[in-house]
Amino acid sequence: MLTDAFGRTIRYLRVSVTDRCNLFCSYCRLPGEAILPNNQEILNFGEIVRLIRLFLELGVERIRLTGGEPLLRRNIVGLVQALAQLPGLQELTLTTNALLLERYAAALKTAGLQRVNISLDTLNPETFDRITQHNSLSKENLLHRAGLPAVLAGIAAALQVGLQPVKVNMVVMRGINDHEIPAMLSFARQQGVLLRFIETMPVGEAGLDMADLFVPADQILDQIHRHFGSQLLPVEQPGSGPARYFNLEGTTANVGVISARSRHFCNTCNRMRLTSKGKLVYCLGRQDRMDLKQPMRDGASDAELKQHIQQAVALKPERHAFEQAENPHIGAHMSALGG
Ligand code: GTP
Ligand code: 5AD
Repeated sequence: MLTDAFGRTIRYLRVSVTDRCNLFCSYCRLPGEAILPNNQEILNFGEIVRLIRLFLELGVERIRLTGGEPLLRRNIVGLVQALAQLPGLQELTLTTNALLLERYAAALKTAGLQRVNISLDTLNPETFDRITQHNSLSKENLLHRAGLPAVLAGIAAALQVGLQPVKVNMVVMRGINDHEIPAMLSFARQQGVLLRFIETMPVGEAGLDMADLFVPADQILDQIHRHFGSQLLPVEQPGSGPARYFNLEGTTANVGVISARSRHFCNTCNRMRLTSKGKLVYCLGRQDRMDLKQPMRDGASDAELKQHIQQAVALKPERHAFEQAENPHIGAHMSALGG
């Protein structure tokens, strides 16, 4: 079992399979933040599967594939299929912007993916383009100009093939999309997806620019209460992430909030992150990490790699450093950490 110095057990690993993304969301990636990884730098499928097998042997039970945009990784379906066979895996999930999901949903489901979380911050096509800057010139973007309609088609495809429950993540930004909170909730109810409102987090330079746009979760919940006139009662929902969920009293509608800043959840943190380049990141809100790729390429045995992983878990910090003045996380890139 992987237990850290504060008694927290690590059962959940987020695995970024590529730094590339076909969007430039303002809170995640700066325009022109070019990501041109050398193929040798990123873990190959054999390496990813081996490391995940070792994590599972050490007691991890849930794996979430992230990016960048994970569906841009070549043969992502083949990777899902290989991972789904691993003993000890209780849940295999993926977080995506859904631009390519319509194309891949059925194959991912067949390969053994259980469910998807989808990023969607607005229902307005112009706001979508503004937030995601998806018209920025990049090779990937030229291929996927469809924007919001493609995401909506991706959500429909996920529901249709049963990648459920589908959760939708909305990063709330003051003056940009906060007026859409009720409309997004109505959309989610109508579609049968579970909406989570996310507080902006100051990760990477793009994230740091968001300070003025921050809306605390309590204000989001208040807005919902005022708009729908219902109390919000705490409820449990399946998942292993940090969201808190509420039911709109008198309805079947549930909603989640992820309040990393106004009410952090570090004391119950159950996770670590593996980057596409093989670094094990202890905490989303800090820079510390341990390289697993080089030891693996230098011929480390399974037992030696497990020792590295155990050492990394022992170094997991007590809590994130989002509020520290010196911004120790400024050099990190949200797009490479996968959220
Ligand atoms: P489930 O609950 O299992 O569905 O997954 P999840 O909510 O953990 O995954 P998802 O990729 O959808 O992440 C939703 C939001 O939570 C993103 O904004 C993540 O950056 C944020 N998040 C996930 N894990 C952490 C964490 O350990 N710390 C912080 N601060 N934020 C996190
Ligand atoms: N603050 C909050 N959430 C973020 N995400 C990406 N960057 C940030 C940020 N700076 C979210 C995305 C995606 C999830 C994986 O992380 O919306 O849904």
